[in-house]
Amino acid sequence: MSECILSVSHLCKTYQDGGIRACDDVSFCLERGDCMAVCGQSGSGKTTLVRLITGLEKADSGSVIFEGKELIGMKEKQLNLVRKRLQLVFQNPSSSLDPLLTAGENIALAVRYHHIVPEAEVRDYVLSVMKDCHVDEGCFDMRPSKLSGGLCQRISIARALALKPEVLILDEPFSALDVSTQAKMTNLLRKLKAEHNLTLIVITHSLETARHLARITAVMHEGKIIELDLTRRILSSPSHPHAKRLVMAAIHT
Ligand SMILES: Nc1ncnc2c1ncn2[C@@H]1O[C@H](COP(=O)(O)OP(=O)(O)OP(=O)(O)O)[C@@H](O)[C@H]1O
Ligand SMILES: [Mg+2]
Repeated sequence: MSECILSVSHLCKTYQDGGIRACDDVSFCLERGDCMAVCGQSGSGKTTLVRLITGLEKADSGSVIFEGKELIGMKEKQLNLVRKRLQLVFQNPSSSLDPLLTAGENIALAVRYHHIVPEAEVRDYVLSVMKDCHVDEGCFDMRPSKLSGGLCQRISIARALALKPEVLILDEPFSALDVSTQAKMTNLLRKLKAEHNLTLIVITHSLETARHLARITAVMHEGKIIELDLTRRILSSPSHPHAKRLVMAAIHT
C-alpha cells in the first residue's frame, strides 16, 4: 500500500444563501504521486470541494487529513504554512494575481514569503520557473492586466510550482489556453509529477485532459461524487447515468 497523502472523509457544505448542498458527503483518499481528475457539469461542486480542502471555505462537517494532520478547524496561521505544501491554483487567474504587481513580482512575493531560495537568487529562480511554464522572460516586468488570460493562467501555475508543493490542485487550469499550449502544460505536469512525485488534483471539463493526466477520475453531480474509478474505466464504461452523459458529450465535441 502506498502512503495516503490526502484523505477526505464525509465532507459537507451547504451555502446559506440558496440553501444549496454544494458538497454532500464527499470522501476519497489520494496516494502520494497520484493524479485525480475531478469532472462534472457546471455547478456540480468541484470548486467548492477544493476550497473546502484548502480551508478557503469553512466545512459544515467532515475531515480533511493532509500528511497526517487534520485541516478542518485548523487556525489560519497554521493553515498558511500548510498551504505552501498544498497549493491551489484558482479557476480565474487574472483575479488571483495581484494587479498592482508585475507577473514576476507576483511569483517572487510567494517565493520570499515561504523562503524558498535566498534573496539574491529570487529573480533567477522565478525566471527559471517561468521558463518551465512556457512564460517568456519579457513578461517578468508586465502587470497581469497587460497579459492574456492564458499567460495569467501559466503565471498562476508557475507561482504555485515555485513553492515546490507536495500536492497541487488546479481548478480548470487550461480553460484559457490554446490546444498546443494545453498539450505543453499537460506534458510539464506529467514531467513534474514523475520527477518530484508531485500529487495532483485537476478539475477539468475536458475528459481528454483527464485521460492524458489522471490515473483516477471523480465525477461530481449535485455536490456528490457519483463515480470514482480509473480514468480509463470511466471513459470506456461509465456506470452512473450522469457520468455516461459526460462521456457521451466528450465523444461528440
Ligand atoms: N459563495 C457561494 N455562495 C452561495 N452559493 C455558492 C457559492 N459558491 C458556489 N455556490 C453554489 O454551489 C454550487 C456549486 O458551485 P461550484 O462553484 O463549486 O461548482 P463548479 O462545479 O466548480 O462549477 P463550474 O464548473 O461552473 O466552475 C452551485 O450551485 C453554486 O451556485
Ligand atoms: Mg468551478
